[in-house]
Amino acid sequence: MATIGKDLQVAADILSADELIAIPTETVYGLAANAFSSVAVAKVFQTKNRPSFNPLILHTCNLNRVQDFVQDIPAKAEKLAQEFWPGPLTMLFYKKPMVPEIVTAGLPRVAVRIPNHPITLQLLEKLDFPLAAPSANPFGYVSPTRPEHVDDQLGDKIKYILDGGACEVGIESTIVGFEEDKVVIYRLGGLSVEAIEKVVGPVDSLPHSTSQPQSPGMLKSHYAPGKKVLIGDIATLLNLYGNKNVGTISLNSSFPELPADHQIALSLSGDLQEAAAGLFKALRYLDSLPITYIFAEPMPNQDLGRAINDRLKRAAAE
Ligand code: TXA
Ligand code: MG
Repeated sequence: MATIGKDLQVAADILSADELIAIPTETVYGLAANAFSSVAVAKVFQTKNRPSFNPLILHTCNLNRVQDFVQDIPAKAEKLAQEFWPGPLTMLFYKKPMVPEIVTAGLPRVAVRIPNHPITLQLLEKLDFPLAAPSANPFGYVSPTRPEHVDDQLGDKIKYILDGGACEVGIESTIVGFEEDKVVIYRLGGLSVEAIEKVVGPVDSLPHSTSQPQSPGMLKSHYAPGKKVLIGDIATLLNLYGNKNVGTISLNSSFPELPADHQIALSLSGDLQEAAAGLFKALRYLDSLPITYIFAEPMPNQDLGRAINDRLKRAAAE
């Protein structure tokens, strides 16, 4: 088991020795390494069992530092940074040579984010290197939104988990790139497309799931719990499959034929932000029950509902 604590000096010392810690962000917990050390970054891939073709996000604490390791920040990116950083937005920029190839899996662009979590921002201020950090889960599993989630799955492989409590956004960052004058969404996430479009106008989206991903975050089955997830109208699924060995995820419905503790309503008031914040915890919880199926109803296809639907689809993919 790892130590779960709030000691920034301990955290900084471990990172400076090219070892890993878990860090809280407002989206999900990250498995962090000194991004300028290829040795430390290699440990991230090894610890997560992550394929080396899947590049990592660099986390830093202000725009000046971003400028140190990327070539150019397009005007639209600057606007988005002003509006949404620190926050659940990751942007792709052409990297400078100082960013090791292992971080970007050999790609010319590097993914960058300023996370919005006070303790992690303090840590980043203290360090003279950015942190490369994927979500702190074994590859292919649901991302952790609590320090205990990290401890359960990676606690025997890392020494320290910086404790930032529960993640407020609860779903990974939205990833965007810039192509000519276009903003392209690479991954739906904790910042809605609507919010981005308010600042930069209409955006393009890459197809949400594919077996030949441009960005490995688009791998079809990427957030999968162990149970079989079926997406659809839950009443219809209950008719088809019966109500034995079933758990449900809905926005705010209940099903009298099922035990209360097999049902998760993500937001009784129908708030999609609250729903996103509880999604991964719900998947983990249902995964721990002695059930066979998780029935999930699609959320309204707007705001964070789109990102939730995207994660549900991936959880349901074989
Ligand atoms: O909210 C988040 O983004 C969390 C927290 C810890 O910051 N991080 C996270 O990292 O979700 P990860 O590694 O689980 O997902 C990052 C995604 C990957 O799917 C990767 O394909 C994509 O970002 N990515 C990273 N660098 C890229 C690049 N240069 N080009 C295209 N996609 C990239
Ligand atoms: Mg991940």
